[in-house]
Amino acid sequence: MAKQGETSYMHPGLNKPGAIPLFDLPTLRASLSDKYDLAPSPEIAAELSHIYDRMSRVVTPADWAIYAPYVKAINALKKERNAVILGHNYMTPEIYHGISDFGGDSLQLAIKATEVEADVIVQCGVHFMAETSKILSPEKTVLMPDMEAGCSLAESITAEGVEEMRRRYPGAPVVTYVNTTAEVKAASDICCTSSNAAQIVAAQDSDTVIMTPDQYLAQNVAKEVPQKNIVWWEGSCIVHEQYSAKDLRDFREWNPGTRLIAHPECPPDVVAEADFSGSTSGIIKYVTDEKPEKALLITECSMASNISDQLPEVDFVGPCNMCPFMKKITLEKVLYALDTMTGQVEVDPSVADKARLSVQRMIDLSHQLGI
Ligand code: 13P
Ligand code: SF4
Repeated sequence: MAKQGETSYMHPGLNKPGAIPLFDLPTLRASLSDKYDLAPSPEIAAELSHIYDRMSRVVTPADWAIYAPYVKAINALKKERNAVILGHNYMTPEIYHGISDFGGDSLQLAIKATEVEADVIVQCGVHFMAETSKILSPEKTVLMPDMEAGCSLAESITAEGVEEMRRRYPGAPVVTYVNTTAEVKAASDICCTSSNAAQIVAAQDSDTVIMTPDQYLAQNVAKEVPQKNIVWWEGSCIVHEQYSAKDLRDFREWNPGTRLIAHPECPPDVVAEADFSGSTSGIIKYVTDEKPEKALLITECSMASNISDQLPEVDFVGPCNMCPFMKKITLEKVLYALDTMTGQVEVDPSVADKARLSVQRMIDLSHQLGI
């Protein structure tokens, strides 16, 4: 059992004895090349130039000629399968702009999963997001292009961990970040995302509120909601925990005039140094509204890439951190998943029923609060 303070970065499916990888890359490539001509093509690149225009600042023409045949094949297959692709804001530009029908943060994608009419959802993001879509739309086929796309937060806690917190703080409601497995959601009272966490916590009818599993999100919310006694599990995001307040201070000193914008999964002293903190979509909205001359996004690298073309007046500067889990999703894996319908996400119906209550309570409360 994961204990408070312990983290492991493996996807649970891979820890299970006898678990086998969904596919291996040579097999995948051989299977695709039997059916599709995926050689780099300047002709297809030119034909899809209207798509390329959304990423021309960050993707070279030579790379686009490599991606374009995949983009064309995936977009055709989507129609055949009556599929939609939900792309998280951390997807690479060729996925985010090339093949996604909807892009967004965790909350937006969870809500979109309930609204789309399609038979198939392809989740371009990480495993917990696909599970959330399946929980909300059990009748749909949900495909995960790579089952190894996990999340350090989701790995940090099990349902037993939630029960341990309930024993420690009897009667306190459990507000669980969506970055968790279905079992953990099922053991919780309500979910939250980074875009509604403070409001969800503030709305709980209890002085003490348990937040799992992100210690930093909890500590950031505690500052925003001082009327609550917030206690937390000690999970963390391997991408955002790497930033330090000193990094930000040094950057500001050496690059005056840069707007620093941090995700709330960063430690609180990092958030305190930033000019703004918000969910991935909150960050996009802030930069779009404010249009600072120079911006440093203290979050995953693809965020700046994905908004670069729509904001030519903003110079995105400085370092970023890559999420190794999000980066497991590639065009060729998406094409393979859709072509062979592999990577179907299943959630035990009895777990899904309980988990749905936690997710639906969050969606309903968010609507009620106008978030
Ligand atoms: P958002 O809900 O802000 O998109 O965050 C999801 C995530 O995994 C950030 O690391
Ligand atoms: Fe999980 Fe962090 Fe990657 Fe988001 S960025 S999916 S929280 S490991």
